[in-house]
Amino acid sequence: MNPPAEIRTLSTPQELFEAAAEVVVRTAAEAVTQHGRFTISLSGGSTPKSLFNLLATNARTSLPWDRMFFFWGDERHVPLTDPDSNYRMANEAMLSKIPVAAANVFRVPAEMADASAAAAAYEQTLRKFFAISSGQFPRFDLILLGMGPDGHTASLFPGTAALQEKSRLVVANWVEKFKTSRITFTLPVLNAARCVAFLVSGTDKAPALKAVLEGNAPGEQYPSKLVEPTDGKLLWLVDRAAASELSSGN
Ligand code: 6PG
Repeated sequence: MNPPAEIRTLSTPQELFEAAAEVVVRTAAEAVTQHGRFTISLSGGSTPKSLFNLLATNARTSLPWDRMFFFWGDERHVPLTDPDSNYRMANEAMLSKIPVAAANVFRVPAEMADASAAAAAYEQTLRKFFAISSGQFPRFDLILLGMGPDGHTASLFPGTAALQEKSRLVVANWVEKFKTSRITFTLPVLNAARCVAFLVSGTDKAPALKAVLEGNAPGEQYPSKLVEPTDGKLLWLVDRAAASELSSGN
């Protein structure tokens, strides 16, 4: 039986990022002790940027960079030089500042013209790295996720096809409101992780956070609700602004 989700409310965004950095340092140490390496999936958008900066500075000496392997839970269908690229953000905020080998960084080949081909290629990268065959799912040590004001996570948006995916690891998911495809991990991958940590900051996220943590609406409407690790820990790190509508008084 999985422990219930842990919800931690931090007073400020800075405290949120410091708490998240502690989670990364702790889970990295545990993973390297237990199985010699730490596999982490990075989230995109704007929220994790401050965390990445912290990991590359204050936490720099506390991390086993040579044993760390970086992946992305989703990517925009843009070249890695594009301002919208999640890889570019993580590279500028962290990867370019730390002693990590290029061979330890597995970015989504989002520059490929065909988003489905990029998703299929990234799925093969995961299958090869984790040495898994069809029907098996990779078990990340830590998956970092964000949540949008609409309750989406990774690029699993409300009412989109990717929410139904049961066997593939990575798919190209058409997002009508952006008129583009996003390349995203599927729910089975997110729910196979040892630890999933959501980072949620800001009042604009408060209604969705309440709906996800306390509401009865279906997961189809708030995909972050569908993230429930089958044999892993679920952690919500939220700041006071994002938690402002929670009745649990967190
Ligand atoms: C992306 C993300 C996405 C993000 C949320 C929150 O590529 O955009 O992976 O799921 O985490 O949209 O984004 P913000 O942190 O910018 O609010």
